[in-house]
Amino acid sequence: MSNYHIKHLEEYYQVYRKSVRNPSAFWEEIAEEHFMWRKKWDNVLSWDFSKPEVKWFEGAKLNITENCIDRHLFTRGDKTAIIFEPNNPDEEALHISYKELHKRVCKFANVLKQNNIKKGDRVCIYLPMIPELAIAVLACARIGAIHSVVFAGFSSSALAARINDCDCKMVITSDGSYRGAKTLDLKSIVDEALKSCSGVETVLVAKRINTEINMVENRDKWLQPLLEEASTDCEPEIMDAEDPLFILYTSGSTGTPKGMVHSTAGYMVYSAYTFKNVFQYREPDVYWCTADIGWITGHSYIVYGPLCNGATTVMFEGVPNYPNFSRFWEIVEKHKVNQFYTAPTAIRALAKEGVSHLEKHDLSSLKVLGTVGEPINEEAWHWYDDNVGKKKAPIVDTWWQTETGGIMITPLAFCTPTKPTYATLPFIGIQPALMDADGNELIGNQVNGNLCIKFPWPSMARTIWGNHQRYKDTYFSAYENKYFTGDGALRDEVGYYRITGRVDDVIIVSGHNLGTAPIEDTINEHPAVAESAIVGFPHEIKGNALYGYITLKDTGESRNQDNLRKEINQLITDQIGPIAKLDKMQFTQGLPKTRSGKIMRRILRKIAEGDTSNLGDTSTLLNPEVVESIIEGAK
Ligand code: WTA
Repeated sequence: MSNYHIKHLEEYYQVYRKSVRNPSAFWEEIAEEHFMWRKKWDNVLSWDFSKPEVKWFEGAKLNITENCIDRHLFTRGDKTAIIFEPNNPDEEALHISYKELHKRVCKFANVLKQNNIKKGDRVCIYLPMIPELAIAVLACARIGAIHSVVFAGFSSSALAARINDCDCKMVITSDGSYRGAKTLDLKSIVDEALKSCSGVETVLVAKRINTEINMVENRDKWLQPLLEEASTDCEPEIMDAEDPLFILYTSGSTGTPKGMVHSTAGYMVYSAYTFKNVFQYREPDVYWCTADIGWITGHSYIVYGPLCNGATTVMFEGVPNYPNFSRFWEIVEKHKVNQFYTAPTAIRALAKEGVSHLEKHDLSSLKVLGTVGEPINEEAWHWYDDNVGKKKAPIVDTWWQTETGGIMITPLAFCTPTKPTYATLPFIGIQPALMDADGNELIGNQVNGNLCIKFPWPSMARTIWGNHQRYKDTYFSAYENKYFTGDGALRDEVGYYRITGRVDDVIIVSGHNLGTAPIEDTINEHPAVAESAIVGFPHEIKGNALYGYITLKDTGESRNQDNLRKEINQLITDQIGPIAKLDKMQFTQGLPKTRSGKIMRRILRKIAEGDTSNLGDTSTLLNPEVVESIIEGAK
């Protein structure tokens, strides 16, 4: 029997050793015993990080939806697969059984086929957190179409860029979405985006908020009538292990967003296996991850990982503060949630509101608490532990990335002793390395360096859509033969890892990755702006917030600064989305630069943090005088 479910720390160490001693044998056993294959693989793993090329379970044939749905039909047909909790607490929650999910996915898959979607085609999904989102994802997977989910908070230009980058033939959206007390008009965002996307043939529109919307003839179709007509039988497309399952965009430190490509078999095995062990999911637990399916956390740990394990997974449409700050706890009580997985930014926002919201609700069902997306500060960790878990529910601080597909460094609940702010130990099969400034691996404990992974794992992204060279340059060029994560980390005296944050120009704001370059490019488009530089600074709730240093052109200097601030943030909202708005803007005479013209962000970061005591040697700068004026202006 393979070690599919690890139950204590000794077993973790034993299985970990086994998984790194002979990774192929280890993963073969897991794959063989716990998944459904149409044909087994010819070779478990081949890899070469210098190209980079990685293949897992090559030659195997499967469909991931058979693993997520069909194989449960006999044993768990009537069990709830998805609990849908609507934005409005007065609207009834939906319980979708595995049988019902099967029907709805097959119908949706048939609608895709009737609309000319075939294996390998790209389908963009731009939907709020309603059941159709999970069903659309699975319907694409059913017929081998590659889904590209775009978070429905992105603006029309960000959406257009993502649609065009991977040539989507179809967009699936809704008439609008509920978000707390507000409604958002998603369809007009899509209409605006499609003005510059000539490849899109069809737009399927789900009805959610029942508003009047514009429907473009021969392009836009209401989804529900098509679903009603469609057959409930849809044979799964038989996929190769390495066929792409989905594309998901993530910000880079430079240029356009990167379409990370995930393949089928390895992603399935790893997302399912991590889900089971990190959260120690046991039937009939109810599991709830508060992320949006528009992010990787939602892909792996709302949809694929839980469903592959026959779990009950909650999908929440709303926000933590609507109708008030008790909402999360009300949902925990209502659905008797056993595992609860959220982000530090949400924990901090809830903590700020005090414990009275928690005290009104019975949280005794909670067994495991999870956190993801950014480093969790000690205060938030303790608040979560004391008040939500009542010191009885272990906190799994899970470090991972869009690129890694699944959780990489984490405690296993009830196995790994936790330590505040530490993601603790590598997951089974994961071989981390910390690197020093000279590119050497740091051996032993009590070291601090750049975090790399030195051996492939099944769910790693295989490439960046349309740009393999960028994949290589971004992740495999900093250190020879290693995947570079872009994060810094330290390893303590017992070998526990603590993620210290990004070491590149990605800033994590409320758990969302934002690249500085695309935001700067947007600001620089403003006619009054000469140049700009963005850095992060600590923020009580968001973790980091954005600080923009902006130099105006001569013509801009006479402008009213408050108006300029508004215009610049509006431009960012239009081009990227409201999540990328700047919290602070400082208009500067110039930006500190090296003699080769590179902006010295280190200095700007320190000023933004209010720490100007030790700026280092500024005399070698091209323009040392601007530093003083920036410090003055920041006061
Ligand atoms: C950060 C989210 C500290 C990290 C799954 C990583 C974390 C980036 C943690 C990826 C954590 C994620 N502790 N930092 N537990 N989890 N991060 O692609 O900087 O949206 O590189 O994936 O978030 O963000 P992404």
